[in-house]
Amino acid sequence: MPLTSNELTNLVASLTLEEKVRLLTGEDAWSAYALPSIGLRKLVVSDGPTGVRGAEWDERDPSLSLPSATCLASTWDRTALRTIGQLSAMEGRRKGIDVVLGPTINLHRSPRGGRHFEAYSEDPYLTGELAVAYIRGVQEQGVGACPKHYVANDSENDRFSMNSVVDEQTLRELYLAPFEAAVTQGEAWSIMSAYNRTNGTTMTENDLLRHPLKDEWGFSGVVVSDWTAVRSVEASANAAQDWAMPGPRSPWSEGLLEAVQAGRVPVAAIDDKVLRMLRLANRVGALQSQPQDVRTVADARARIRAIAAEGMVLVQNEGVLPLASRTKSIAVIGAHALEGRIMGGGSATVLPFAPVSPLNGLRAGAALGTTVQFAVGSHLSDDLEPFPIELLIAPNGSKGVELTFFAEDGSEVLSEIRAGSHFINMNPTIAGPTAWTRVRTRFTAAEAGVHRFGTATLGGAKIIVNGETRFEGAATFEGDPAAAFMNPPQSFVEQDMQPGESIDLEFHAASGMGIPGLSVVSTRIGYRAPRLSDAAELERAVALASTAEVAIVVVGTTEIVESEGYDRSDLRLPGDQDALVAAVAAVNKRTIVVVNAGSPVEMPWRGDVAAILLTWFPGEEMGNALADVIYGVIEPGGHLPTSWAVDLASAPVSNTDPAPGTLEVVYEEGLNIGYRAYTLAGREPAYWMGHGLGYTTWTRDSVDVVSQMHAGNPVTVHVGITNTGKRDGSTVVQVYLRRRESGVRRPAHWLAGFARVSAPAGASVTAEVTIEARRFQHWADGWQTEPGQFEVIVADNASLTDGTVRTIEIK
Ligand code: BGC
Repeated sequence: MPLTSNELTNLVASLTLEEKVRLLTGEDAWSAYALPSIGLRKLVVSDGPTGVRGAEWDERDPSLSLPSATCLASTWDRTALRTIGQLSAMEGRRKGIDVVLGPTINLHRSPRGGRHFEAYSEDPYLTGELAVAYIRGVQEQGVGACPKHYVANDSENDRFSMNSVVDEQTLRELYLAPFEAAVTQGEAWSIMSAYNRTNGTTMTENDLLRHPLKDEWGFSGVVVSDWTAVRSVEASANAAQDWAMPGPRSPWSEGLLEAVQAGRVPVAAIDDKVLRMLRLANRVGALQSQPQDVRTVADARARIRAIAAEGMVLVQNEGVLPLASRTKSIAVIGAHALEGRIMGGGSATVLPFAPVSPLNGLRAGAALGTTVQFAVGSHLSDDLEPFPIELLIAPNGSKGVELTFFAEDGSEVLSEIRAGSHFINMNPTIAGPTAWTRVRTRFTAAEAGVHRFGTATLGGAKIIVNGETRFEGAATFEGDPAAAFMNPPQSFVEQDMQPGESIDLEFHAASGMGIPGLSVVSTRIGYRAPRLSDAAELERAVALASTAEVAIVVVGTTEIVESEGYDRSDLRLPGDQDALVAAVAAVNKRTIVVVNAGSPVEMPWRGDVAAILLTWFPGEEMGNALADVIYGVIEPGGHLPTSWAVDLASAPVSNTDPAPGTLEVVYEEGLNIGYRAYTLAGREPAYWMGHGLGYTTWTRDSVDVVSQMHAGNPVTVHVGITNTGKRDGSTVVQVYLRRRESGVRRPAHWLAGFARVSAPAGASVTAEVTIEARRFQHWADGWQTEPGQFEVIVADNASLTDGTVRTIEIK
């Protein structure tokens, strides 16, 4: 039985000050301290939110890789988000996790945002609605959600110190709004405070933690810091920051006890934080050995496959999709076809079970008699790729590599056989500051040519081939440690080999990242198979495309382009992918481009291809979901959750670079980001938020809404639509509001309601969309309603072109 709030208060009172303070810093990278004397077991958290990695970063303990946020948001489907929440909770429980560190509900202020793929939308209402559904899905299974990063962490450059300068109305109506929904409707059990400053104060010390979060919205959960974001004792402890992560060392573990004893932090503040920690523990069943609610969700893979397809956005289609089953030959082209990007980079990374590549999915789903042939066309970069494990034998004869951790004195700490290429260990007893690792394996070449072997690590590295040291050097990092940790610098050697020839490889790497309180090993071994010249690869792909009935080119970004700790410097596809698409489109009129990116990329060839399908980062069922859509088993259900810029130069908001010196990013565009900014500037994006095609057609037959309403009441809009096509389908009914005349500072127009609606071929249905009272309100020292006429516009996307306009008088 969960404890009552009186019992929780009594438990707090039973603890010594030392015990209380100890509880407020993590025990390690992911856990809170257990307190057996009060029946509190260890509480464990994990990233999140595109699956649940678990406390270990280890390919032997895989996680279901779920579609990333932009893919999920494209569904505009609250039920899908709830299912994803349930799946996350199920994965969390399977891995002993109590709180999933997500959803990320910062906004797509600029398409350059490094973690754009991990956040839902440029629209605060859409973001909030989807977040609430996800949080409910997680928490109804007894696992906590942790919306992040509170607040105005909408870009990544200099994220530890940058200062987001945002006026109050903009903060309330845009950046705080999804958090407000997450707390007041989603009832989130925790929230993560961000690294950045907002209006001058770092978020772990910011008054926004108290007001509005705790006192106005009534947040009863725990404010956990982003990792290492607590950088002070009194300032953060006296703000409403509750829990400093990670541990075991933080400014609080070093100085908080003394600060309380000296009266610089009141005991009452500590008691409140501890009560919140115990409340969270109580909610997830970590107190008094409450049984964990482990429910499984049936058909997890089938569900993520369907949701991934529902999130794929068909932005353009000259009648080529879905492919007819009589199609005889398909050329599949592009590095992403061979290995799709199922997720972005950074802390959201999980180690998946069995990703399905686009090529394998398209081959498996092809009709009998259809040939599917592949050419890579262009390599994205010179970076090392994961080793093909089937070519590696560890010294003990097993498939894979032997990974050994050594202590400073050279003694062996742990040796294991691994089947991955990226090894991360956060166990402080293993990842000591001067420890090192060794990887040993025997590699057998499958093809003739120059093979490249390398390592990527921070600190010293050595590469030994057949007993001979071929590389020795040291790499240091500058800038964001999380970025360096995920993508350490690379070094490599080359070896000309014949098929069947074997060599012994040994990689040594120093440990330790030099971050106080954080002991981490991050070492990567990598491989690059012999390659044709770029010109020869392109020629092969073009030749293949010219003889096939249809060419499918899969292009995209990488986990280095879209990651954490930095923003994108441009929106271009990496490598020569633009040239590849152009060359293929020149020889095949039926070229379909599949864009595998988590955020907008420039598509200079978009006028020259037959179809463009955006898959985002769709999770490990990628290939199957893609095949379902391409072959028409299901229609692509997605509608853009963000406006897709033509190019960086024409994106209305692009500044994510903190000003030198002040490190300020001024949100000078105020209320107008995304579609609002395009409208205001009279500019066209490549595609507007809300846009998305399916495989059927629709007409809008009627829009009914009352003509008058008293302020403070919701309004229901009835929208009659007909599926005029030949197959069953679904679409998203979108309702926007606009004021022609207003004495108030407002966005150009704003999303006010939406509903996903399905209808059989030929059928008419009526969608009911509720516009909540808040949608008519603006912030001016409190939520206010300006009486007068609002236009209610039902439209297919945020351009409002072809929208049906009604007016409603709010009294
Ligand atoms: C990220 C968070 C993440 C945390 C723990 C931070 O660098 O900003 O989103 O939850 O690391 O991995």
